[in-house]
Amino acid sequence: MTAAPPPAPQPGAAVDPPAAVVPLAAAEPGAAVDPHAAVVPVAAAAPLAAVVPPGAVTVRADAPATADLVRAGWTAVASSWAAELRVSAADEAAVVARLERLVARVSPLARIRELTPADADAALALDRATLPDYPGGPATQHDPLTPTTARPAPARRAWGAFARALAPGAAPSLLAMTFTAEPAAARASADPADPADPADPTAVEAVETDFTVVARDWRGRGLGSAVKAASVLALLADGHRRFRTGGATENAASLAASHALGYIVDERWLTLAPPV
Ligand SMILES: CC(C)(COP(=O)(O)OP(=O)(O)OC[C@H]1O[C@@H](n2cnc3c(N)ncnc32)[C@H](O)[C@@H]1OP(=O)(O)O)[C@@H](O)C(=O)NCCC(=O)NCCS
Repeated sequence: MTAAPPPAPQPGAAVDPPAAVVPLAAAEPGAAVDPHAAVVPVAAAAPLAAVVPPGAVTVRADAPATADLVRAGWTAVASSWAAELRVSAADEAAVVARLERLVARVSPLARIRELTPADADAALALDRATLPDYPGGPATQHDPLTPTTARPAPARRAWGAFARALAPGAAPSLLAMTFTAEPAAARASADPADPADPADPTAVEAVETDFTVVARDWRGRGLGSAVKAASVLALLADGHRRFRTGGATENAASLAASHALGYIVDERWLTLAPPV
């Protein structure tokens, strides 16, 4: 059975979206961005509001309904990708070795460790300093951290890279961080008692990367890849098997970092604006 094409959109008219096409919703403060979820939040404030017209939808690039919308005059205003790293028992040693290399190569520059609630102020400061740096549209939007979301939690674990070279007595500064979002189902399905039982890694929920960011002056030195690799290593050790991430198509560094870890792009998304 083929899905019926969407009605020809009228200017200003509400769209009755086909299954693969979901109108953008107002973001919950601090909500994790999930670039491959069916509903991709967009903030009403932020510069995005200026470039994402009312009525825009984010759709799978390969969905039949997307072609219908394009034929009906909708135009792409942003594009993004999502990728997955699945780790089976057979792959695990090679994946771990690759991730450990990514962490080890920044060791002269930085110490990487899991962030704790005591790091929340440093995370907030790094976040504020880098807010304008996220390219892309609503599907890859980064919601600014708040004092609450900057605090790592069991389902929102985070890793950071701290500068090694210190002035005497100075606190090490946070150079890079990655925050993850762990669905409750992923926590339940991870079995630390039997971490090598990935009979079907696709059957378990994935842990998402919420965002990764590196201080401007420290980019291109492996820190983004390293904090992300550290997060996957720790979550793997806890029994997780599936990891998902995503980014804007134009974010070459983010895509390259994900490739370096072994993620494989499996979804492409478009944000389409209605015809005017
Ligand atoms: C995306 C980001 C986290 C990458 O961190 P980084 O420390 O600069 O990246 P790394 O040094 O680990 O490099 C990772 C890969 O990207 C490549 N790369 C780095 N900067 C690049 C650039 N500007 N253009 C193209 N490739 C780039 C590197 O060569 C490396 O690839 P390789 O392993 O094949 O050599 C960082 O650029 C950033 O903070 N950007 C702003 C926030 C953002 O966009 N975050 C991602 C969305 S959540």
